Amino acid sequence: SLPLRSVNAIVASALDPADRPRPFQTDFVQAPFLAPYDTGIDPVDGAPVNYYSVTEMVSTANILPRLTTPILGYNGIFPGPTISLDQGTKAVLRVRNQMPLLHPSEGYLLASSVHLHGSASLPQFDGYANDVTNPGFAKDYRYPNFQPARTLWYHDHAVHFTAQNVYSGLAAQYHMHDPVERALLPQGQFDVALTISDASFAQSGALGYDANDHSGLWGDVILVNGKPWPVMKVQKRVYRFRILNACISRSLRPTLSNGDPVTVVATDGGLVPVAQTVASWRHAGAERYEVLIDFRKYSTGQRVELRNLSNENNVNFADTGKIMAFDVVDDAVDTTDPTWNTIPTQLAASESMSIREDAATNVRNFRVNRNDLTGVWTIGDNSWEEVVASGFKKAIANPALDAVEIWQFENNSGGWFHPIHLHLVDFRILDRNGRPPFPYERGPKDVVYVGEGETVRLLMKFGPHRGRYMIHCHNLPHEDHSMMVQFRVGMAEDAVDVNDPVKAAP
Ligand code: C2O
Ligand code: CU
Repeated sequence: SLPLRSVNAIVASALDPADRPRPFQTDFVQAPFLAPYDTGIDPVDGAPVNYYSVTEMVSTANILPRLTTPILGYNGIFPGPTISLDQGTKAVLRVRNQMPLLHPSEGYLLASSVHLHGSASLPQFDGYANDVTNPGFAKDYRYPNFQPARTLWYHDHAVHFTAQNVYSGLAAQYHMHDPVERALLPQGQFDVALTISDASFAQSGALGYDANDHSGLWGDVILVNGKPWPVMKVQKRVYRFRILNACISRSLRPTLSNGDPVTVVATDGGLVPVAQTVASWRHAGAERYEVLIDFRKYSTGQRVELRNLSNENNVNFADTGKIMAFDVVDDAVDTTDPTWNTIPTQLAASESMSIREDAATNVRNFRVNRNDLTGVWTIGDNSWEEVVASGFKKAIANPALDAVEIWQFENNSGGWFHPIHLHLVDFRILDRNGRPPFPYERGPKDVVYVGEGETVRLLMKFGPHRGRYMIHCHNLPHEDHSMMVQFRVGMAEDAVDVNDPVKAAP
């Protein structure tokens, strides 16, 4: 397997020893689900519509044993509330920015932009970085939800401050269900969201932010759903975990402490065609992997830890090699639920996995790099600074609507890995360094891990919307400085853009 490196800046918390959290002392929790405040029918196509509202606000979280931590949160919690709905139900998400003008410790303007990561949204609802909502204002985001079942997440995307806003707490899961997925995989309390992040704390209990000149931030405390190294009680049955790496920089390599494999059943864009059994996997920021873990074979009282093998550079902070623990309990298992003992092997071939390579009409090659003079991270030799300077016109590619293309990303940036995220599309990874993708990433994806010295090729179809969409590194300090560019689907450079994502921007 390929190395995980690029960890040069572990930020040690300045907590007093008695305030420092320790692994496996805290109960596992999940974010609450968000109920719609209203429902309706779309007058154009008759589709059901759920209306949701979240408020971005300053709040405090109980993360540490004796101190509270100021955060930014959707509805004041971290992670924010989970939205769960069915494919075909549209959503209108009203986001009210009730944050103060300035970030409480970092002092920058708390303008926000919300991206539903994994959704093929119209450009003006996609969380375009410069399409910000200032404190005191609100915006309605409309989500089409036509795609197959998947784990999405919504998070802040404000230009230059995405990393700090997400790190401060503006991140939440969003689950889309469909009948195929419901029949195959555990539901309800056995369908468990794991939002993993890392943090570093000041002595006061506040989050400490140091991205080492936009290199990245690696905290020394691992959080799952906002709690440090929690312990979850599990029944002797099959569980489904929707694992989101919400770390702003850190990549993970999850594995079970007893060496048992897990079964990967879904990637970023939903179900994989064929389930893959793996002992560990490389999991970069923003990637989602859904895995099944079968606890039937363990004995009551047994503890199984979820560990992080990408800890090799973190020798002084060995606890970042741990993520959480599962304690097996003897509760009666509902064996009338057919998913209690089922590990499916065939799942679903989504459209994005069925596109043929020979349908591609264009091959494009982009380098991911760093400008030696300015220190700015680049994609295709461009950065967001050039996009802004062009009046948001400049794009690194302009595929036609519904065009199938192959995009190659070549990492020339030395000892760095970059999780590259394309908005709008699901893609299939054709190969990495000329070899087949790892078994666990043979599913629909919207983030691709481009490791040090790696070259990946992606296959995808550009649609169903025209417009300008971002593509960026999901190491968020890289994105903010300014490893983000855009592509333009189905429109000429000077076309009048009816879905202009930036016309509302100040
Ligand atoms: Cu999850 Cu453009 O981001
Ligand atoms: Cu990067």
